[in-house]
Amino acid sequence: MTIRTILGIESSCDDTAAAVLRGAAGEADILSSVVMGQTALHADFGGVVPEIAARAHAEKLDYCVEQALDEAGLTLAQIDAVAVTAGPGLIGGVVSGVMCAKGIAMARGIPLYGVNHLAGHALTPRLTDGVAFPYLMLLVSGGHCQFLIVSGADDFRRLGGTIDDAPGEAFDKVARLISLPQPGGPAIEMRAKAGDPKRFRLPRPLLDRAGCDMSFSGLKTAVLRQRDSQLQDATLAAQDQADLAAGFQAAVVDVLAEKTRRALTIYMALSPVQPTLCVAGGVAANMAIRAGLEHTAAQAGAGFVAPPLRLCTDNAAMIAYAALEQRTQHNTDGMALSARPRWPLDRTSPAMLGSGKKGAKA
Ligand code: KG4
Ligand code: ZN
Repeated sequence: MTIRTILGIESSCDDTAAAVLRGAAGEADILSSVVMGQTALHADFGGVVPEIAARAHAEKLDYCVEQALDEAGLTLAQIDAVAVTAGPGLIGGVVSGVMCAKGIAMARGIPLYGVNHLAGHALTPRLTDGVAFPYLMLLVSGGHCQFLIVSGADDFRRLGGTIDDAPGEAFDKVARLISLPQPGGPAIEMRAKAGDPKRFRLPRPLLDRAGCDMSFSGLKTAVLRQRDSQLQDATLAAQDQADLAAGFQAAVVDVLAEKTRRALTIYMALSPVQPTLCVAGGVAANMAIRAGLEHTAAQAGAGFVAPPLRLCTDNAAMIAYAALEQRTQHNTDGMALSARPRWPLDRTSPAMLGSGKKGAKA
């Protein structure tokens, strides 16, 4: 039996997601893609609480799968295979998804595929835009930040990434420091419009160090210091808030643009047929960051692809699609499939230390 219709399941962070795809690698249609977020559940805690996330996934997964099937106009009997995020991520959530997928695969006697969440993000430009290998991918979200040269469905070379916070995490923390609401990214982008990005001198971390690694934690501390210097009676004036938002955003734009320029130099040396810079992750929604990346790509002679936001952020369509790209009907996982908190895409690059608020970095 050829796999035509595949169910994807994603639960590695704070979104419970299920999707149904039909087709094959390079020619798949998304029949449905349902994402049930948990923002409200974690709102009081300033970050994702792993135990709350795992419980919410366990509660929502069945409904989420049911809704994805309904929206696709299919029943479980019409699904040929199940793909599930098996890592990296918050382990309780990943286990919930893997158990759900195993149950469906066993009950139906269909193939089960454990997929790397980062591979899902990294292969999305092929699902949305049919981008040819090799392309350069920048993953920028609340949990991830890395440059990858994607040369095949399972051929990833990591050029560098953050050594501490992910950019989205930094946006969220800075928003909290300057009394803006969560999620911090959209709030800072909006507030920055009224601000002067040059008023506060903020650092561009690691630009003095060769290579593509990045750091955003010191930038956040620098914002904290500047904020403290402006506080009057424990409150921040509206203009100070806007100037800090604009200054912080400008620093992130500069760091991402310069590190992308370096990653593009390494990538372009491969003489790709259709040189392309792709982005994924929620931070790619930021228009200033996007413009900076697009400009950098154009200067290097590369195209720029940013999938629609609903497929840039966590979703299950990317997980189902990665399975279509990476697996055959014989190359399946059995009931021994286990959840992996860490699972680097590039097996040759050193493991990233530390863990972000949304789980292990890779
Ligand atoms: O990819 P995503 O939905 O979830 C994961 O992190 O897995 O990304 C969410 C992150 C949040 O940290 C949010 O603040 C950030 O993306 N974000 C933005 C913008 N919209 C969302 N950051 C900067 N500018 C934005 N417009
Ligand atoms: Zn993700």
